[in-house]
Amino acid sequence: MDLPDSNVSYKIQEYWDERFSKEETFEWCKSYADFKHLLCENVEKSDRILMLGCGNSRLSEDMYNDGYRNITNIDFSPVVIENMTRKCRGMVDMQWMVMDITKLSFDQSSFDVVLEKASLDALLVEEADPWSPSENARMTMDCVFSQVSQILTTGGRFISITFSQPHFRKPLLAKSQYGWSISTSTFGESFHFFFYVMEKGQQLSVDDKLLEMRVESRRKHAKDCKGRNVTLPEQFTPEDNEEFLCNITL
Ligand SMILES: C[S@@+](CC[C@H](N)C(=O)[O-])C[C@H]1O[C@@H](n2cnc3c(N)ncnc32)[C@H](O)[C@@H]1O
Repeated sequence: MDLPDSNVSYKIQEYWDERFSKEETFEWCKSYADFKHLLCENVEKSDRILMLGCGNSRLSEDMYNDGYRNITNIDFSPVVIENMTRKCRGMVDMQWMVMDITKLSFDQSSFDVVLEKASLDALLVEEADPWSPSENARMTMDCVFSQVSQILTTGGRFISITFSQPHFRKPLLAKSQYGWSISTSTFGESFHFFFYVMEKGQQLSVDDKLLEMRVESRRKHAKDCKGRNVTLPEQFTPEDNEEFLCNITL
């Protein structure tokens, strides 16, 4: 498939509708076989699973054939949902629904596992600098993660499979209000992919709480400076304090 004119297309439903009207299958971030060992450790065959932004990936079919039956797939493209419903009509326990990831309409605690592969990446394509996500990106991720946390059971897991490294993704995921812990694994050979597991009902680690505090303080500082034309000296970040001076040997 040719690249779109602009990355922004990956956020737009019409782009995906057009693409899915021609493309039968495409796998983003590797296939089931490549991360099955990690999935098996975190998902039971009897779990109720929600797949966010399923696209025309084979992941749900491969999982179904491996014994995971209760899978609900959502995507905002009616074209792909129609195609996948037709393709998988023999897989009777699997559901296909047109739904926006940012507007989930499921009851509280209705899933044991929420799974996404490269779908959140599609929502972040407009980001110019992954080191400092825009307020818009933070709000979109907060909207998705708050809803995912709501629809997960206690002890449930949100699994995110992506090429986004922990220093970019964890600042968005590490929020006490989601009520989950975060663990990270990698897979792949020359190029590594990331497999994040957020376990609902667990607390953030001490390091992740510190990360949450740093992100919050940086945002607050940026807000305070907005409109006042105040910038930080380049070598300092808002979380720096004088203590580091004590460790300097001249
Ligand atoms: C990069 S593809 C990933 C597809 C699939 N998960 C995979 O692993 O191959 C992104 C998918 O997310 C869907 N998508 C993008 N934004 C969405 C939104 N706001 N709500 C629902 N689906 C969305 C697209 O239609 C597309 O199927």
